[in-house]
Amino acid sequence: MLITTNRPVDTSPIELSAAAGTDLDRIWKSVIPETRARGNDIHLPISLAYAERLCAAHPEADALLVRVSILLHDTGWGRVDESRIISEGFSGDWRKAEIRFEHERQGCLIAEEVLPPLGYDADFVGRVCAIVDGHDTRPDAKSLEDALVRDADRLWRFCSTGIALASSWFALTPARYCDRLESEIVPEFKTEAAVAIAAADLVRSRALLKTEVLR
Ligand SMILES: [Fe+2]
Ligand SMILES: [Fe+2]
Repeated sequence: MLITTNRPVDTSPIELSAAAGTDLDRIWKSVIPETRARGNDIHLPISLAYAERLCAAHPEADALLVRVSILLHDTGWGRVDESRIISEGFSGDWRKAEIRFEHERQGCLIAEEVLPPLGYDADFVGRVCAIVDGHDTRPDAKSLEDALVRDADRLWRFCSTGIALASSWFALTPARYCDRLESEIVPEFKTEAAVAIAAADLVRSRALLKTEVLR
């Protein structure tokens, strides 16, 4: 059952609405080394932009919690053995690979390290960690904020930049990767807003990348 909204949903290209504000810049600066791993310097800012759209469609959500959680959720990749990311993280039952659990645990440790010195209290840090922990390996969302983070974490793959990066991780052609997005990722969305955004992005990305011809 999808979480619905009666607010308008912005389905225009994500390039038209980069993440707003500079209030998270101090967090970004604290995790620059961790953004160098596994395309995080592409994945995290784009996912934050999508998260802000989802928050606009869900004003009842704690937007700061969603924004900080999506910013930090994959920083743990920066503290795991880089060679294992591709060998274990993207093959076989990749969602259950030990390296996946490890990047979630490391992400929580990073949140506990960087947030308190920037003035975030223990309760807030605990709520961020509750979302970061299990974000890939747990099937269900524990709260609306958790659902919005999970959806933003998937939505970035639907823009052409996400397809370019993620299709190479999985050694798939862009066309095959688009098919996989539609069949495997769309059913995982928790919100109606994310489904609408993904559908609009996929139409645009398929046209741009000529996936009907380049098969
Ligand atoms: Fe992750
Ligand atoms: Fe992610």
